[in-house]
Amino acid sequence: MQLVLERCTIRPWRLNDAESIAKHANNRKVWLAVRDLFPHPYTIDNAHEFLQRAIGEQPTTKFCIEVDSVAAGGIGIRLGHDVHRHTAELGYWLGENFWRRGIMTEAVTAFTDFWFDNVPLRRISAQVFATNPASARVLEKAGFVFEGLLKNNVIKDGEVLDSLLYARTK
Ligand SMILES: CC(C)(COP(=O)(O)OP(=O)(O)OC[C@H]1O[C@@H](n2cnc3c(N)ncnc32)[C@H](O)[C@@H]1OP(=O)(O)O)[C@@H](O)C(=O)NCCC(=O)NCCS
Repeated sequence: MQLVLERCTIRPWRLNDAESIAKHANNRKVWLAVRDLFPHPYTIDNAHEFLQRAIGEQPTTKFCIEVDSVAAGGIGIRLGHDVHRHTAELGYWLGENFWRRGIMTEAVTAFTDFWFDNVPLRRISAQVFATNPASARVLEKAGFVFEGLLKNNVIKDGEVLDSLLYARTK
């Protein structure tokens, strides 16, 4: 997959993206919005490990968001199994230097369109911590519909938080 968009390009990860990932992912503000699987601090070794996994995986589900020739963030889906095999869950992050330029709205819209157009998926969902209005807004602008508030659904940084469930269906 290579999606060349107006503000960014979504492309496969490359081994030489490690330095850029370690730079932009090593940010507590990013970490606070994502799952604990995402390391903090985010070291170059973490980046190498992530890239080995992402590049080796079949089918490829994790991609780089490149902005101005910089690996600025990531976007990926987790495909469902069994009775959920027509569904997927979306995740994404962007380095703070690139926020508020409409990049993730563009990326999420095009990425979701791509999967619906190329794979027989009927549902792509995303969960946002209730403390993250920017991400909820990205999803709304990308055509996702708010399905509900999941009370006390996550524990992040020692705090129990609600999360917001969004989905786009086909
Ligand atoms: C959340 C995130 C993805 C937003 O990406 P972005 O490229 O800055 O978003 P956009 O520029 O496309 O903005 C989308 C909308 O969110 C709004 N927005 C951006 N930052 C905001 C903030 N801090 N508070 C409220 N709204 C905000 C924008 O104004 C825009 O809405 P508008 O067009 O109605 O004004 C990015 O900040 C990020 O990666 N954060 C850390 C990781 C994360 O949250 N991942 C998602 C986990 S579910």
